[in-house]
Amino acid sequence: MKSRAQIKSHPIHPILVSFPIGLFISTFLFNLLGLLFDSSNFHQTAGYLAVAGIGFALLAAIPGIIDYIYTVPPKSSAKKRATKHGLTNVMVVAIFSIALLLAAEDVSLLIITALQGIAVVMLSFAGWMGGTLVYRNQIGVDPRYADAGKWKELYVENAQGDIEVASSDELGVNQMKLIHANGKRIVLCKTEKGFAAFDDRCTHKGGSLAGGALICGTVQCPWHGSHFDVTNGNVKAGPAKEKINTYRVSEMNSKVYISL
Ligand code: FES
Repeated sequence: MKSRAQIKSHPIHPILVSFPIGLFISTFLFNLLGLLFDSSNFHQTAGYLAVAGIGFALLAAIPGIIDYIYTVPPKSSAKKRATKHGLTNVMVVAIFSIALLLAAEDVSLLIITALQGIAVVMLSFAGWMGGTLVYRNQIGVDPRYADAGKWKELYVENAQGDIEVASSDELGVNQMKLIHANGKRIVLCKTEKGFAAFDDRCTHKGGSLAGGALICGTVQCPWHGSHFDVTNGNVKAGPAKEKINTYRVSEMNSKVYISL
């Protein structure tokens, strides 16, 4: 689903992470060259690269945390993966920071380089998980199937009872809108027969249905293709086995309401 930290649908986190990745790997390589050629110039350059890498890593973490909170579907396999991805990166930054402090204390450069080598391996693992989050879980992807219209999202504070979520003419047939209300993620959609609303959570592994496709009253999960009837939540095709939760939708004075 679409990233919350984005510029014109381009997620900012993947743009920024290339800097710390390049800088941390360069830090390790320059220290390695310093050891090979016994040159302090290489080690000095590695020190500057490490400082820059830590700075850019902290910067890249900001949109990453925003997407972790707002974009990655809660209680999903992607949330677990994103948690591991974030924690691994925190450890990488911690190791490079500790290595910097050790270098200032004149600890053996062999030990420092070895530590950074371990961190680079961890960085690769974190990058692998980041790739899975994008290419498999579609975190930050803004897919537009035919006639889906622009991505629509609404945050409602202190929602209770019937909440106003759209105007009657806001959605075309087969279009969806993601509603955040009291920590819940609910999808409002319009079918040929009218409006319907359901949980934005596939019962298979927690995929965001708002990022899927809606056709003839059936929503398809973008992760593994489960199909659900949006009017009663029933599973029409697996791998999901449990139905999704649905909500009562009403229209009044050209406004659409969902009953929580
Ligand atoms: S998460 Fe697997 S089909 Fe939806």
